[in-house]
Amino acid sequence: MAKINENYLKLPGSYLFSVINQKVDAFTKKNPGKELIRMGIGDVTRPLVPSVIGAMKDAVEEMGTFEGFHGYGPEQGYDFLRDLIVENDYRKKGIDIQADEVFVSDGAKSDTGNIGDIFSADNKVAVCDPVYPVYVDTNAMSGRAGSYDKESGHWSELIYMECSAENGFLPPIPDKHADLIYLCFPNNPTGMAADRDYLKKWVDYAISEGSVILFDSAYETFITQPEIPHSIFEIEGAKKCAVEFRSFSKTAGFTGNRCAYTVIPHELVIDGARVNSLWNRRHTTKFNGVPYIVQRGAAAVYGEQGQREIKEVIKYYLNNAEIIRGGLAKAGLTVYGGVNAPYIWAKTPDNMPSWDFFDRLLEEANVITTPGVGFGPSGEGYIRFTAFGDADKTKEAVERIIKIL
Ligand code: MLT
Repeated sequence: MAKINENYLKLPGSYLFSVINQKVDAFTKKNPGKELIRMGIGDVTRPLVPSVIGAMKDAVEEMGTFEGFHGYGPEQGYDFLRDLIVENDYRKKGIDIQADEVFVSDGAKSDTGNIGDIFSADNKVAVCDPVYPVYVDTNAMSGRAGSYDKESGHWSELIYMECSAENGFLPPIPDKHADLIYLCFPNNPTGMAADRDYLKKWVDYAISEGSVILFDSAYETFITQPEIPHSIFEIEGAKKCAVEFRSFSKTAGFTGNRCAYTVIPHELVIDGARVNSLWNRRHTTKFNGVPYIVQRGAAAVYGEQGQREIKEVIKYYLNNAEIIRGGLAKAGLTVYGGVNAPYIWAKTPDNMPSWDFFDRLLEEANVITTPGVGFGPSGEGYIRFTAFGDADKTKEAVERIIKIL
């Protein structure tokens, strides 16, 4: 008889954003005609910029000719894109990364979720609490998380690093050993960013413990403060202990296009094995590459026009973030994030449980948010807003919230 992976049976309920969708669908059925404003899932809303559209149109035309047709591409990404990534995102910033250290993929969600494949099931994993649920759920799927305790909301084998207002949402380095450490800065969900001194402590820890930092920097493009590093590789020693995940999703509106990349330096050697080679083995076995047309679109982001255009869009979202921050503060809420990130993390009024406040905002203000506790027990009493909406709707949502509070 076939047997399934029992770890899947241990997973609690559904994926966070599916639960929210179910709640919203139920509300809409009961209240047809109510105009909901979405500030829940971090999905972009501005259309693709003209330079990307132009490049993708050209690529479609090319694909319609014998000379320009592309079948399977290199699994790791076309050289034209890997070279642009290396040059613009690293070398120009003084970071020496080689093109064969870059793996183009269909998303940072997939890569942060899949990277565990090449590490032993015995590894001790450390995650922030609250945390992007993909890191936790995928470790649970691969048997690294132990068992789930409904009461605490924690998995028995994971090391949770509490992010609280008291520690500025930057958890201290654990006093025990962790093999794999997931860090996300600028952070999802808290919207807080980490400076160089803080990240240096992690790099020193990882080197001394022989651990690997899995650094999700999908939101680096929202950084506005010069003291905040955009890449873990800006930190000395990081190439020996870190993997970096980046994405075009939030940078260039590619959530529906799917294009991201992961950087694994050759210097990262664990247990005598080069992590880059192992990931290459996995990637070439399980993945057939991002479509040529999409990679041409991503490449256009690095042109002069592309840069100008995407910066405008980022400015637009950051302006929304400012409106949300200011409005929520006016409504009497304590707010965090939103300066170097598209997420605003707010304390609920009178310590109201996250889901109760989520329901209240949905029912009374008709605004969809994400309950902080959905990201982990330490998110209880918080709510997350995203700045990816339309500017007018964002203003209206904030006005509605001010009114009900
Ligand atoms: C979020 O809302 O946390 C993001 O949309 C997650 C993601 O990028 O997958």
